[in-house]
Amino acid sequence: MKPTTAPRTYRVKSFGCQMNVYDGERMAEMLGERGILPAPEGEEADLVVLNTCHIRERAAEKVYSDIGRLVKAGAKEGKTPLIAVAGCVAQAEGDEIMARAPAVSMVVGPQAYHRLPAMIDKAVQGERNSDTDMPAIAKFAALPERRKSAPAAFLTVQEGCDKFCTYCVVPYTRGAEISRPFADLTLEARRLVEAGAREITLLGQNVSAWSGEDERGHGVGLAGLIRALAEVDGLARIRYTTSHPADMDDALIAAHGEVPKLMPYLHLPVQSGSDRVLKAMNRSHSADSYLRLLERFRAARPDLALSGDFIVGFPGETEAEFAETLALVDAVGYAQAYSFKYSPRPGTPAATMADQVGMDVMDERLQRLQAAINRDQHAFNRASEGRDCEVLVERKGKLPGQWLGKSPWLQSVWFEGDCAIGDLVRVHLAEAGPNSLRGVVRETVAA
Ligand code: SAH
Ligand code: SF4
Ligand code: F3S
Repeated sequence: MKPTTAPRTYRVKSFGCQMNVYDGERMAEMLGERGILPAPEGEEADLVVLNTCHIRERAAEKVYSDIGRLVKAGAKEGKTPLIAVAGCVAQAEGDEIMARAPAVSMVVGPQAYHRLPAMIDKAVQGERNSDTDMPAIAKFAALPERRKSAPAAFLTVQEGCDKFCTYCVVPYTRGAEISRPFADLTLEARRLVEAGAREITLLGQNVSAWSGEDERGHGVGLAGLIRALAEVDGLARIRYTTSHPADMDDALIAAHGEVPKLMPYLHLPVQSGSDRVLKAMNRSHSADSYLRLLERFRAARPDLALSGDFIVGFPGETEAEFAETLALVDAVGYAQAYSFKYSPRPGTPAATMADQVGMDVMDERLQRLQAAINRDQHAFNRASEGRDCEVLVERKGKLPGQWLGKSPWLQSVWFEGDCAIGDLVRVHLAEAGPNSLRGVVRETVAA
């Protein structure tokens, strides 16, 4: 590659899960420390970071179409930006990207992005370079302090996964489970609150597997961390995602009943309602043990809103097995849920299993599942009508004087009134739609 001038502006585009959003923010902060500015809206950036996701085929292919688009736009302008591919595709297919996309000058994995500034220096000198090392914990210590935050902030507390569900790339792209130290997390949370956060969502591929030692040297799990963060002045709400049913302990269930700042919402993926499929997925829980676990959470916090993830068309899934998934959805009554068609991922055991399910069958099952989920989501929203609750104002709505925020149950609520982003507003939930609720302001709540 030819040497080029140092970039003055950047754009970070994050795909995939919330951990990628968190990583994207941290990369942007690092570039900011270097004096590189966010590219103004509508203008090409000198440096583009594609922070990619490898979870399903469609997600992974986006990186190549995006690179193509950048090269085309660059040819028109007479200058292609420096392109860095980060995230899980970088980790899984780094060499392939370097070979297939000569316009890419940097490939940086999710555990190596603290070294991005040094990589940019090399790229400016014309040297393509790649770093997909996995010494996870080193990254956080090398990142700059938090100075800016939206009212609803993310905080990665745990990374990686040791579960090895047979369909999933995450254990390969994010590596083994590691927990960030307690003291680092309480400090980062305080900084986020000083910078404007009112709500923090604790993130991890398996966040409920987080463990550490508190300030007195006592071993604590996620519940202990949540209780410590609930002491942070100015922090009003705590959430966490994503959990695996195997790591949900009594302490966490109790915290849902006892920590008012912990929001009444639980995202607990189940993937399937069929025990045969769950076993083939290596999920270490049955449909029944999942349902019993949810009952215990609901006993601790009766108004808990539930969310889940589902995969339809896992290899060998029969119509009868899919019907068991629909039955599980009926039994739970989710407030919301995510559902996906199975996508064979290279290197995972399920990709080479017999009886891969045809696309037309998957399409049809996904439609039926989503109809059931939408029905329950709408019912959950309707059941909230007439309630009063606090809404954290996250952004302006489409019309003047209109605001959008989230209820404790993570529903989108819009309303009109006199307030500001970051306010907690007491709202009457007046009218439910399938995807959001209309609220009427009662009062703004102090911090
Ligand atoms: N660690 C989290 C999230 C993993 S990825 C967890 O265990 O829940 C988010 C979701 O993507 C998964 O819950 C699963 O529903 C879906 N997913 C993962 N791999 C997939 C694949 N190969 N095909 C389709 N969906 C997949
Ligand atoms: Fe993937 Fe399973 Fe780990 Fe979740 S628990 S990240 S689905 S391997
Ligand atoms: Fe995607 Fe990686 Fe997250 S594969 S879902 S960005 S952990």
